[in-house]
Amino acid sequence: MADTNLVDLAIKASQKAYVPYSHFPIGAAVRTKEGKVFTGCNIENASFGLTNCGERTAIFKAVSEGFTEFDEIAIYGTSEEPISPCGACRQVMAEFFEPSTQVTLISKNGKTLVTTVQDLLPYSFTNLN
Ligand code: THU
Repeated sequence: MADTNLVDLAIKASQKAYVPYSHFPIGAAVRTKEGKVFTGCNIENASFGLTNCGERTAIFKAVSEGFTEFDEIAIYGTSEEPISPCGACRQVMAEFFEPSTQVTLISKNGKTLVTTVQDLLPYSFTNLN
């Protein structure tokens, strides 16, 4: 079951997206083990490769505030189907989330897919040992 509050916060976060190039807003909301929620949006740049995705913004905001353990994330995109996180974001989720962590993906019209970090990035590279 998706946390509806987290979904609502992800949708709201997309309203802050800085997307003058793609016009494709993304919003994300992540809940820490302590129950604190951080939100994020995608932030683009004229030098396209510098763009930061919405889910990474949310995760990096949390980590930069000292929260590194997470229970759940919701990601909203203005796509027809539930947004499919990019490879870089899957790798960042694998870094900080347990493999079984719930990831809720939401489309423009609210179509929802509930999945896990493990399912999004099987056989992931997680550390140097
Ligand atoms: N984007 C995200 O924010 N998250 C994803 O997982 C997929 C892509 C953003 C990056 C860029 O601002 C826009 O969507 C189009 O690629």
